[in-house]
Amino acid sequence: MMTSALPPIDQPLVDPQGRTIRYLRISVTDRCDLRCRYCMAEQMTFLPRAKLLSLDEIAIIAERFIARGVTKIRLSGGEPLVRRDVGDLVRRLGRHVGAKGSGGGLDELTMTTNATRLDRHADEMVDAGIRRINVSLDSLDAERFRYITRHGDLDQVLRGIAAAKAAGLAVKINMVALAGLNEAEIPAMLEWCVAEGHDLSLIETMPLGAIDEDRTDRFVPLTRVFEDLKGRFALVRDAHRTGGPARYWRVDGSSTKLGLISPLTANFCDGCNRVRLTTEGKLYLCLGHDDQVDLKAALRDGGIAGLDTAIDLGLTRKPARHDFRIASGSAPAVARHMSVTGG
Ligand code: 5AD
Ligand code: SF4
Repeated sequence: MMTSALPPIDQPLVDPQGRTIRYLRISVTDRCDLRCRYCMAEQMTFLPRAKLLSLDEIAIIAERFIARGVTKIRLSGGEPLVRRDVGDLVRRLGRHVGAKGSGGGLDELTMTTNATRLDRHADEMVDAGIRRINVSLDSLDAERFRYITRHGDLDQVLRGIAAAKAAGLAVKINMVALAGLNEAEIPAMLEWCVAEGHDLSLIETMPLGAIDEDRTDRFVPLTRVFEDLKGRFALVRDAHRTGGPARYWRVDGSSTKLGLISPLTANFCDGCNRVRLTTEGKLYLCLGHDDQVDLKAALRDGGIAGLDTAIDLGLTRKPARHDFRIASGSAPAVARHMSVTGG
């Protein structure tokens, strides 16, 4: 990662709490080829294609954020690789990686993917300047994987991960801890990550969007998982912070970092440096709130100046903190699914 001094930034993105926004997450599609039970309902209604930002509009908005001081962009979804033209976006944004000194630039361009199509895309991602990716993988047992994803093929995903590793991408596995489903498999997943040289982030289920079951039944507090892992692995605290809800440890004697992402049991909002752009062009200021501004309309009606005004308006609305709760029988804290705002 580059650590060169930042060039002078046009109108830096500072919110009312004094937090500077450096990280933009972009959901390039709300569609996905899997239907993970904690994420989506089996029958999902996706956005009509006419409502989506064009690829060019995504790039224009992203480039405006880069000019205003964003140094990290993550492409996510839904599954980003199901959007046919995503390779063009990766190449276009990749040109900003390491381009500091010429008026903004990215330290990092990255992606969160389910890896079902990764074998076809890994080389193109490396060529575009992507160095690290996150892969959602909740089980290494083919049958359980199929159950959780409702129809996913584990072999296909493992082939995608192997292709990424062979292409030189660093891989972090994202595993959502699910009681009675994959909780008992967590030590084996960490062992596999150590053997493969991947990092592992464990994630608590978040109350985002209606699904077909009750998330309360599946919720696992990561404090419980961590107590168990401490007894099995030599874990060393790692100072690495991303401004997000993760705490990191390293498995001693390996390169594997273990991240615990506990939005419900840890408070991380004070250091929040991120905002999220949806496929539809809405800018969400917080994963846990419904406040948003419509950047698509602003750009279409007012060009770059209109876009800047809308971004500034959005920033003034960035909440100080999320208010997630997981309560049995209650509606999700946030009506939209993770696939809308991209995690
Ligand atoms: N709670 C927690 N994690 C979720 N993900 C998707 N939906 C949820 C949810 N409701 C995860 C995916 C992916 C990451 C972006 O978010 O597994 O790894
Ligand atoms: Fe698709 Fe990821 Fe949601 Fe699973 S968690 S359905 S892979 S977007």
